[in-house]
Amino acid sequence: MIGDPIKHSISPQIHTAFAKSSGQNITYTKLRVRPADFAVKVKDLLGLGVKGMNITLPLKELAFAFANKLSPRAKFAGAVNTFKIEQGMVYGDNTDGIGLIRDITQNLKADITDKKILLLGAGGAAKGIIKPLLEEAPEVLHIANRTISKAIELKNQAKVYNNVSASGFAAVSDKFDFIINATSASVNHAVPPISAKVIDKNTVCYDLMYSKEPTSFLLWAQQHGAKITTDGLGMLVEKAAESFYLWRKIRPATQDLLLKLRK
Ligand code: ATR
Repeated sequence: MIGDPIKHSISPQIHTAFAKSSGQNITYTKLRVRPADFAVKVKDLLGLGVKGMNITLPLKELAFAFANKLSPRAKFAGAVNTFKIEQGMVYGDNTDGIGLIRDITQNLKADITDKKILLLGAGGAAKGIIKPLLEEAPEVLHIANRTISKAIELKNQAKVYNNVSASGFAAVSDKFDFIINATSASVNHAVPPISAKVIDKNTVCYDLMYSKEPTSFLLWAQQHGAKITTDGLGMLVEKAAESFYLWRKIRPATQDLLLKLRK
């Protein structure tokens, strides 16, 4: 796993647990790599014979440019979080979006199909999840962002799906079944300035960020009566499982590990 910062990453813990539970002989470690050193460090790692890599912030776009071949979901996201190395070829994939979908559908047992989704944010995190979300065929996916032009740009990128709309935060007042916070506002304990009218007693509010304490967005959602509020820990475990599957063709069990990490 490479990124910067990397100290707080729990991915080695997750993959070591997957390897143990599925009987796979894997060594998974983390390494701090600065953007300026990306190509040199990755080539060093390839020279050492690594079979796969996870790539996290701020290196996902560099990984996208480095890969010899890309999955359709990585192409759409413009970002890569997983390398699989085979005969010297670097295959780049992006498991972020499918991680979110699995967490929503399998762990939360919620259904996205025909539902109204509000996506907050139009940066890298939003781009990484929008295609897998649209493939679940929601009724509507509305992108709201502080910089309206970026929301419109992302909507245009997804124009093959004809159920996507975009605006700034102030224009949003309809009720939604799902509200997904893909902004980085929670990092600074801020909440995107949207009307609480978007929440009702059946709304699921999801913050892609995870932390020990509920994020500011999740506290706001609880105060306004959301049915379910959850952070991105489940997504983290599920996207790791998808990377593991890509490398080993084995889908590790995630439930027990997720419970353990929550505790
Ligand atoms: P990431 O890779 O985490 O998505 P990014 O590409 O820099 O990082 O995108 C950050 C997103 O969070 C953007 O949508 C940003 O809005 P702008 O496009 O207007 O910059 C959004 N964001 C960051 N801080 C925010 C805040 N305090 N309130 C609302 N949106 C915020």
